[in-house]
Amino acid sequence: MVKRGGGYDAAGAVGWEWFELENNPDGSVGRIVWRGLGPPAGEMYGGDPTGCSGCHGAKKDNDYVQSVPLQLSNF
Ligand code: HEC
Repeated sequence: MVKRGGGYDAAGAVGWEWFELENNPDGSVGRIVWRGLGPPAGEMYGGDPTGCSGCHGAKKDNDYVQSVPLQLSNF
């Protein structure tokens, strides 16, 4: 997830763009598989058909970040 700001994805995790990245076989950074409001049609993540903002949208009070150690109050 990358912060774009400017009201990007106003109906989801506001301000964030989602990415799937793929490493090269040697572990170096490879390519962007997709980017945007969520995975392309037919793809799912974590078994959730609502896309990335389905789960992350529940964490609006923490700027849509889920990880427990990454609380806004820590920054
Ligand atoms: C089923 C619920 C669920 C879905 C769907 C989901 N996430 Fe998450 N995501 C989580 C949880 C829970 C964490 C925190 C995991 C941890 O801290 O170990 C997380 C963490 C992350 C993080 C690290 C930053 C953060 O918010 O903690 C990124 C980046 C991320 N997810 C990207 C994505 C992308 C991209 C998608 C869609 C392709 C997606 N997630 C869909 C539940 C979800």
